[in-house]
Amino acid sequence: MAHLSEDMLSNTSKNLLLQMTARRNVAPKRLIEPGPTEEQLNLIFRAASHAPDHERIQPWRFIVVPKNKRANLGEAFVQALKHRAPNASQVQIDAAYEKALRAPCLMIAIISALPSEPAVPLNERLISLGCAIQNMLLMAETLAIGSGITSGQAMNAQSIRDLFFLTAHEEGVCFLNFGTVASRKPARPRAPPSAFVTTL
Ligand SMILES: Cc1cc2nc3c(=O)[nH]c(=O)nc-3n(C[C@H](O)[C@H](O)[C@H](O)COP(=O)(O)O)c2cc1C
Repeated sequence: MAHLSEDMLSNTSKNLLLQMTARRNVAPKRLIEPGPTEEQLNLIFRAASHAPDHERIQPWRFIVVPKNKRANLGEAFVQALKHRAPNASQVQIDAAYEKALRAPCLMIAIISALPSEPAVPLNERLISLGCAIQNMLLMAETLAIGSGITSGQAMNAQSIRDLFFLTAHEEGVCFLNFGTVASRKPARPRAPPSAFVTTL
């Protein structure tokens, strides 16, 4: 905000900028109870539905992992680890399991490459998912709910694919975590537009 001439902005723009600048990735271990209420979660998903979507093919979806299924996810993480690292130590196995137990609200984001007519390439589908996720993170921020994205080597392990019944055209992209922020990292410096914008 420091670089903005705030006087020139409407209140709507100021509010949006405030939410954007306040949002930061919160590690799942720092996301504690309470998680979003059903109503808040519904708002978060409504925000996702406003993402741009070329040819309106709805190429993404989310699956929430409720508390009574966290153990299944933990087991799937452990199986994924044992598959890629047969000699994994008990400490590593416990850590893999424990990843499923953090954050009051946890969901997987899934992209679909199912051929469409007209065709929409995967990179455009992923942009749509990314926009949906950012809408969700910003909506959460407005509700004072912290959020964090996680991914990792287990993302498309067979055990994870099986747990979520992914089709052959689908892939898990990342997990989204929501909850109350226990502690927050300081804001990280942001690149100025000159670092990523040029004019032809
Ligand atoms: C697709 C995707 C996957 C991510 N996976 C992880 C992850 O596995 N672990 C992690 O700590 N952060 C993960 N992040 C979050 C980034 O680390 C985070 O956005 C980055 O550190 C910048 O921080 P900020 O979001 O607060 O600006 C992921 C982000 C994206 C977009």
